[in-house]
Amino acid sequence: MEQTVEEKGKVTKTTIRYFLKLLRSSGIPKLVLFLAIVLSLVGAVTGLVVPLITGQFIDNFAADSFNIRMVGFLAVLFLLEAVASGLSYYMLAYVGNQTVNKIRKRLWTKVLALPVPFFDKHRSAETMSRVTNDTNEVKTLITDHLIAFCSNLLTVLGAVAILFYLDWRMTLIILIAVPVGFGILMPIGGKMYKISISMYGQLAQLSAMLTQVIGEIRLVKASNAERREEKSGYDDMDSLYRFGMKEAKINSVLIPLMSMVMVVLLVVIIGYGGVRVSSGALSAGELVSFILLLFQIMFPFSQFATFYSQLQKVMAATERLRLILEYEPESDDRAVRMAPEGHRDVEFKEVTFAYHEGETILSEVSFAIPAKKVTALVGPSGSGKTTVFSLIERFYAPSGGGIYFGSEAIRDYTLESWRRKLGYVSQDSPLMTGTIRDNIVYGREEPVSDEEIAEAARLAYAEGFIEALPRGYDTEVGERGIQLSGGQRQRVAIARALLRKPDILLLDEATASLDSDSEHEVQKALNNLMVERTTVVIAHRLSTVVEADQIIVLEKGQITGSGTHEELIRNHPSYVEWAKKQFQTGE
Ligand SMILES: Nc1ncnc2c1ncn2[C@@H]1O[C@H](COP(=O)(O)OP(=O)(O)O)[C@@H](O)[C@H]1O
Ligand SMILES: [Mg+2]
Repeated sequence: MEQTVEEKGKVTKTTIRYFLKLLRSSGIPKLVLFLAIVLSLVGAVTGLVVPLITGQFIDNFAADSFNIRMVGFLAVLFLLEAVASGLSYYMLAYVGNQTVNKIRKRLWTKVLALPVPFFDKHRSAETMSRVTNDTNEVKTLITDHLIAFCSNLLTVLGAVAILFYLDWRMTLIILIAVPVGFGILMPIGGKMYKISISMYGQLAQLSAMLTQVIGEIRLVKASNAERREEKSGYDDMDSLYRFGMKEAKINSVLIPLMSMVMVVLLVVIIGYGGVRVSSGALSAGELVSFILLLFQIMFPFSQFATFYSQLQKVMAATERLRLILEYEPESDDRAVRMAPEGHRDVEFKEVTFAYHEGETILSEVSFAIPAKKVTALVGPSGSGKTTVFSLIERFYAPSGGGIYFGSEAIRDYTLESWRRKLGYVSQDSPLMTGTIRDNIVYGREEPVSDEEIAEAARLAYAEGFIEALPRGYDTEVGERGIQLSGGQRQRVAIARALLRKPDILLLDEATASLDSDSEHEVQKALNNLMVERTTVVIAHRLSTVVEADQIIVLEKGQITGSGTHEELIRNHPSYVEWAKKQFQTGE
């Protein structure tokens, strides 16, 4: 359902209402907007007066000789129009930029508050484009179109009135051309709009594909998949090309047609006007005024068409923004309490959970994680171990049952206070762009002393490799910096967790992808981290499991056993099998 929003973009009442609400709630600077409107109307009126004065000037010029006053007046008018339109343009740009900046900030805040399931459903390139492109459409509408539309409307209405006053017969001839013009323009405009929407979608698809391929370039090269990616890029680009040519085809008919209509109109006016002038019904100056006014109208008319298509674009963008802005944020409304300091047991009570309705991942799972002990979670891949962690972190909410900290449900705690208690080290520890120091202190708001950082790095067994780097803690990592090895990244993550001092530690196969050297180091670092903490470890090595105080066996979303290693070896057949396999693979 959500995909179809892009294709819409109809200017419906509800969308317009939502759009206006959006503008209002983003605190559009009203006074500046008002001044801008007034100024642009001033500009429009002077724009109308100039042709009249010019006409009179010509008539007088023929009669008396040179009229210096008239010239001066004309010059002042020109100046007034220029200053008014310049100022109003600047003010509008201010309003537009100000508004889009506020909308963007609001959107960014909202995106950060969106729950994890949102990001499961929407591609990240899509969400990025909401914050950058869609907001830009709104800005363009305000700065380039909205007020221009008002002043254009005034210009056209005023000009038509003056034209009637000057010569109603000639004006009627022109007005006949208007519906003809609209009859041609409207259907073509609709077609153009459809093309531009498809082009937009195609462009988004291309950029999503590029992001993916460029981001995973190593995989592409290692799999010899360049040809394949080349082809899928070519396909996207070719269809962009086809849309571009469709647009060109329409334009190649439309543009000459438009100028033809204009030329014909002009010829008719000048021809017929000449007759009227020679018969004395119209003065030469009036004819000049007439033609100048006609030019004044042409431009606004062509702008009406672009205004409408921009409006449609913004409506489509608004619908997409609405999807995000009205999405339920990570709910905090039931949370009244701060998570308490200190340690308590964490308990799952009949927790049921599904990512998608009908596909139950955990069904009525109950178990306890004793405070300050080590609990190992074992089970085949896909059995729901990581899901258990996600639920503890409240990335998702269980659909049945509850998770408790001592006697209190964790969903009653504010998200921030609960997550502050948690430390999470995953298999593939991600780093943010920045220095190693930035990465170690990431998430700590209060300033951290160098000694504290060094101590954390020492306990994380990261000190050695960091100090061996030429720039030490100031070494850039991530996209543009050096690449750290898996074990090094892991130890940076452990140092970060040490600084956070979490009460509850979640380790998701933290040493699974490491070679035995770095595994050894990381394991020592983890042992430092686990001291005096409630630890849950998704385990795959027998050594970790044997040392755990409690082992929970998870299979197909159900607990099939729990106890110590000895207990499980005695009475849990699939655990025995698992342990045997681990033993054979080198432990
Ligand atoms: N974000 C998600 N959206 C939908 N399904 C998911 C998501 N994450 C995991 N799953 C599914 O949930 C099941 C359990 O996954 P997971 O908890 O990661 O298992 P484990 O960590 O034990 O290997 C798997 O079948 C997996 O496909
Ligand atoms: Mg997992």
